[in-house]
Amino acid sequence: MTEEDIADTIAAYARSAANAKAVGFDGIAIHGGHGYLIDSFLWAETNKRTDRWGGDRRQRTHYGVEVVKAIRTVIGDKMPISFRFSQWKQQDFKAQLATTPDELTEVLGPLADAGVDIFEGSTRYFGRAEFPTTGSLLNLAGWAKKLTGKRAMTVGGVGIDKGYYDTMAGAQTVAVSNLDPLMERFNHGEFDLVGVGRSLLHDPAWAKKAREGTAFLGFSNDSLKILT
Ligand SMILES: Cc1cc2nc3c(=O)[nH]c(=O)nc-3n(C[C@H](O)[C@H](O)[C@H](O)COP(=O)(O)O)c2cc1C
Repeated sequence: MTEEDIADTIAAYARSAANAKAVGFDGIAIHGGHGYLIDSFLWAETNKRTDRWGGDRRQRTHYGVEVVKAIRTVIGDKMPISFRFSQWKQQDFKAQLATTPDELTEVLGPLADAGVDIFEGSTRYFGRAEFPTTGSLLNLAGWAKKLTGKRAMTVGGVGIDKGYYDTMAGAQTVAVSNLDPLMERFNHGEFDLVGVGRSLLHDPAWAKKAREGTAFLGFSNDSLKILT
């Protein structure tokens, strides 16, 4: 991307956010994960730039930081900004932006300072410790909250026993109630919000059933066949 391309895309993010505010949305969610544009700047494997948009882990946040700042400028101080990020990339499920909490601080710190209010830690399983060698059970969202002091949303595997990509190896996804371990983490203050994907797509009454404690619909991989 040229300097002009970069300026254009940052302006486009800001324009979209201003439009969203104008039509009455309550917050702005930025996708900074999964190998998409902002993540391509964050990740060392895709960001080989030697100018001010590349460099070490902190310098690679520069593009995301400028997007957040541009959005913050047009929406004002009151509207929340949420930022989705992930270790994994669509090109590489084993990719890692950060292998230690200190490295994660280098990624999220500048984004927090730029104006992010909520970090959405996208993982395959909410119940997995992100940095097990530290001895902590915190997941990615939990670390984001602890390291930045911002709010956090956990995403991944709520209501199912296996991640989507595991099912490609032939494993069957099964609907489960894993709300107890989820709530245990929530009640410890590990994160503030929970994102639910497939369970909600599959069972439109999922949220109501979760609230009432009634059984969820069984899950079939047939619903994913269109993608394979
Ligand atoms: C069929 C399907 C399509 C998805 N499409 C996208 C996508 O286009 N972009 C994206 O960032 N994430 C996509 N995701 C990931 C979801 O946003 C979410 O992070 C993931 O499903 C984990 O949440 P869950 O375990 O509650 O489903 C997709 C997931 C599934 C199962």
